[in-house]
Amino acid sequence: MSGAKAPTVTGASLSKWTMSYFAAALLSLLAAEALMAAGYGYPADGLQAPSTLVVVHLSAVGWLSLLMCGALFQFIPVLVNRPLAGARVMLPALLCIVPGLVSLVSGFMAMDGLLETAAPLLPMGGLLLCTGFAFAAGSIGLTLMRSRPLPIPSAFVAAGLAGLLVAVALGFVFTQVLGGTLAAPVFAHIAARGVPIHAAAGLGGWLAMCAVGVSYRLFPMFLLSPDAQGTGTRLAFLFAAGAVATAIAGGLAALYAGWPMPDVMLVAAIAAAGAAVFYGRDVINFYRARRRRDLELNMKVAALAFVSLALAVALPVVQAALGKSDTAIAASVYMAAFGWLSGLGLAKLYKIVPFMTWLECYGPVLGRAPTPRVQDLVREARAWPWFVLYIASVWAGTVAIALGSATGFRMAAAGTFAATAAIGVHLVRARKLSDVDGSRRFPEGSLRPSLLYSLAPGRR
Ligand code: HEM
Repeated sequence: MSGAKAPTVTGASLSKWTMSYFAAALLSLLAAEALMAAGYGYPADGLQAPSTLVVVHLSAVGWLSLLMCGALFQFIPVLVNRPLAGARVMLPALLCIVPGLVSLVSGFMAMDGLLETAAPLLPMGGLLLCTGFAFAAGSIGLTLMRSRPLPIPSAFVAAGLAGLLVAVALGFVFTQVLGGTLAAPVFAHIAARGVPIHAAAGLGGWLAMCAVGVSYRLFPMFLLSPDAQGTGTRLAFLFAAGAVATAIAGGLAALYAGWPMPDVMLVAAIAAAGAAVFYGRDVINFYRARRRRDLELNMKVAALAFVSLALAVALPVVQAALGKSDTAIAASVYMAAFGWLSGLGLAKLYKIVPFMTWLECYGPVLGRAPTPRVQDLVREARAWPWFVLYIASVWAGTVAIALGSATGFRMAAAGTFAATAAIGVHLVRARKLSDVDGSRRFPEGSLRPSLLYSLAPGRR
């Protein structure tokens, strides 16, 4: 994409701390993958083991939630065409979430016997995470509230924020109950039976809804295809919102009215599968109707991420038919979290990082000096094998979970680790403009970007 064709993200809306969110997110993903490759957590340990909780939260909070917050701070202004409200909370939010996550994960490790300490790690972690996510959700939510009526992509994000609040509130209760700071029977009851609601609100409500919402806006932008607006798109939203509402409201009713929790979650999962069908139809239309004939690497990898979503939806059905429903959910959640959400996340990072870097560095000198194109900041021919290794390893890991092979899963996780590390190196190279050649790299008046923050063009 040439800079002249990028009017939607202006210098003024360049989000200052998004790069720090991305850096912390990538480090968390690498940590989670390294632990999985070392055989820590599921499937070597049980689904509810403290080691599994460590890996789950490094992935869901450290990687996916920080990635999502960083991306939303940058793209919500594009989605609603107005500046971010309360943008100054971006750094305090990060400074609460990262130590909160370290504390939470250390608390789980202490439960696992790996740390010996009397420090209230879980309650402290819960409090910090709650505060950090409240800052982030406040800023994004206020921006959306001021932009009503919301178009479909922003409506997805608004529903996603509701999912985040429920997941974090329940997570907070769990940390206080496990840490001994809340003992009332009502909270003990929530902690004992509320985990499926927490997991569904976090993964399905917050992460999936926001990923879908952002992609409804970014895909037409990156592929130069028409926006999706028809009845199918509205049905995708209604099914998805219905799934989240069922999981949360039905789940809470199950807690108190004694409804069977698995049945409530099954109804929510069926609605979510319906949403995936309508969303998938829109995604196929984005690719079919595109005016950009040659696909950039990030859009090719995004297509593989969508195939992963389709497989994640199909997997439980196939496994149930084979009578292996015990591992079906774990395999399907792994495929959705690492194949779809993480595959999409890594692919989009490979577009967003060069795009923001280009705006920051070359925006100020555009028209006054020869500048590279955004795509000149990356070397797709060198990066693509790593993306293929990443997706292939996730698919292999899913098969290993489905077959119950802990060794196979460790080998596959080592593949995801190597691929993510290499993709990380490519992102750092893009940020440092290492692949831009000669005199066009730093024309006079251009800026040298920092790895951890962005400055609006002209502010240095
Ligand atoms: C936002 C995304 C989140 C997702 C997708 C998520 C997902 C999950 C999942 C799947 C489990 C069950 C794992 C297992 O049984 O092995 C779980 C448990 C737990 N989560 Fe989260 N979580 C999220 C955020 C949080 C936050 C922000 C906190 C703290 C404030 C938290 C605290 C906990 C605790 C303490 C448990 C253990 C509950 C118990 O076993 O009694 N989670 N989470």
